[in-house]
Amino acid sequence: MAGHKYEAEKAGHLEGRLRRFLAPPNALLSRFVPLPGEIWAEVGVGTGFFAIPLAARVEKVHALDLNEKMLALLRRNLLEKQVQNIEAVKSDESTLPLPDSSVDAVLLAFVLHEVDEPERFLAEVARITRTGGRLCVIEFTESGLFGPPQDERLTTQQINDLAAGAGFESSRAWSWQRRLLGWKYFGLAGIEYRKL
Ligand SMILES: C[S@@+](CC[C@H](N)C(=O)[O-])C[C@H]1O[C@@H](n2cnc3c(N)ncnc32)[C@H](O)[C@@H]1O
Repeated sequence: MAGHKYEAEKAGHLEGRLRRFLAPPNALLSRFVPLPGEIWAEVGVGTGFFAIPLAARVEKVHALDLNEKMLALLRRNLLEKQVQNIEAVKSDESTLPLPDSSVDAVLLAFVLHEVDEPERFLAEVARITRTGGRLCVIEFTESGLFGPPQDERLTTQQINDLAAGAGFESSRAWSWQRRLLGWKYFGLAGIEYRKL
């Protein structure tokens, strides 16, 4: 089941100190080993929480989102931080306005569970990714604190099946946990795929 779209009115939470503690963007990005010279796209970029540190490591980031208000917040952040190598682009639900095989890697961070038609969406992700390029997914784990309601979360198996259906093979997976309040924890799954 597709989840609710994250609203721009709540964008402050995306950039807050709690989130930086729970999901430190540089540490999570390091797990995907972005390389100098690579062209990336982040789809569902929000305010640039990941795209901005990512851009410091790679050649260029195409930053796509369907929400104009999110893109406005991103553009403000880019101006403030004087980031030159991120291009903010309005996309549609299942259409990505980038040419075939135009990127080395695509980042989907906390977005796949919001997508209405994941098969069509991932077919578009596959179309823009070069052969041998990478798809990097970060999603909430099923049992961790925070995040969308349980019935909106995707299991790793569901994500693997969707990625395989779009022509990606799984190459690496990792998990990330931050303990809070004793036994409770915040959990993320990171999965990396290669385009066949
Ligand atoms: C929870 S926010 C995450 C933003 C960012 N990736 C981060 O982790 O800070 C999800 C974002 O995905 C966007 N989104 C949802 N469905 C989308 C789709 N089909 N195509 C592009 N963006 C989408 C929403 O507008 C929102 O900005």
